[in-house]
Amino acid sequence: MEGDSVSLNSDLTEMLDDDQILWRFGDENTLIAAIDVLADSMTVYDDVPDGRFRDRLKLDDQTGSLTITNTTTEHTGDYKLQMSSVIKSFSLTVYARLPVPVIISNSSHCSSSSSNCSLVCSSVLNVCDATLSWYAGISVLSSISVCDLSISLSLPLEVEYQDKNTYSCVLNNPISNQTTHLDINTLCHTCAEVHCCGSTEAVIRLVVSAVVGVATVILLVYDIRSTRGGD
Ligand SMILES: *[C@@H]1O[C@H](CO)[C@@H](O)[C@H](O)[C@H]1NC(C)=O
Ligand SMILES: *[C@@H]1O[C@H](CO)[C@@H](O)[C@H](O)[C@H]1NC(C)=O
Repeated sequence: MEGDSVSLNSDLTEMLDDDQILWRFGDENTLIAAIDVLADSMTVYDDVPDGRFRDRLKLDDQTGSLTITNTTTEHTGDYKLQMSSVIKSFSLTVYARLPVPVIISNSSHCSSSSSNCSLVCSSVLNVCDATLSWYAGISVLSSISVCDLSISLSLPLEVEYQDKNTYSCVLNNPISNQTTHLDINTLCHTCAEVHCCGSTEAVIRLVVSAVVGVATVILLVYDIRSTRGGD
């Protein structure tokens, strides 16, 4: 993982007098370290190819093993140990430390027509090899995985307000994960707590108007009749 040290072992117990050991990196086979036993010299070329190895390379003078300290994801790649007759290859993958995913609610407005709460889990990454997933208990509900630079991953989830499941959003790569648990009570507000009965209110107004109208007519008729009766 990013920040760790890694040793690429030569598997030699000792170096012979005429040994020359070369460490190369990447597709270009860039020479990054060399040991010449006869000349009693050890050299690290840590400014090539671009400074990513600067102050991070250590050679073991007994075995010729190479250690990379404080690794970054840029140290991912192929390494070769070249000796007089042998070439050893190493494939190194350095994984980024994952950020904690964030859950937000899309249902900020209470809607009397919907019994579901819309949620989104998201995370900003600058590496490949990471997957964002929604879990209900220990079952995966959905997953998304994108390999791009500084991509924002987001994954939606619809839950019912009264849902009693335990939901969590997990960001993981092959060696680690970060988990955020969903707190439905905090993120999803039910309609009952909010005064929002738009259509019911309209019906009540209609009924009240009708009752008042009918009463007015009855009163009017009664009034006319009593006026005539008083003649
Ligand atoms: C490790 O490398 C990072 C840059 O990638 C640097 O900021 C940090 O200071 C380094 N840590 C150590 C202990 O050298
Ligand atoms: C997350 O990692 C822990 C160990 O660090 C592991 O026990 C757990 O099962 C992992 N969770 C998932 C969902 O991968």
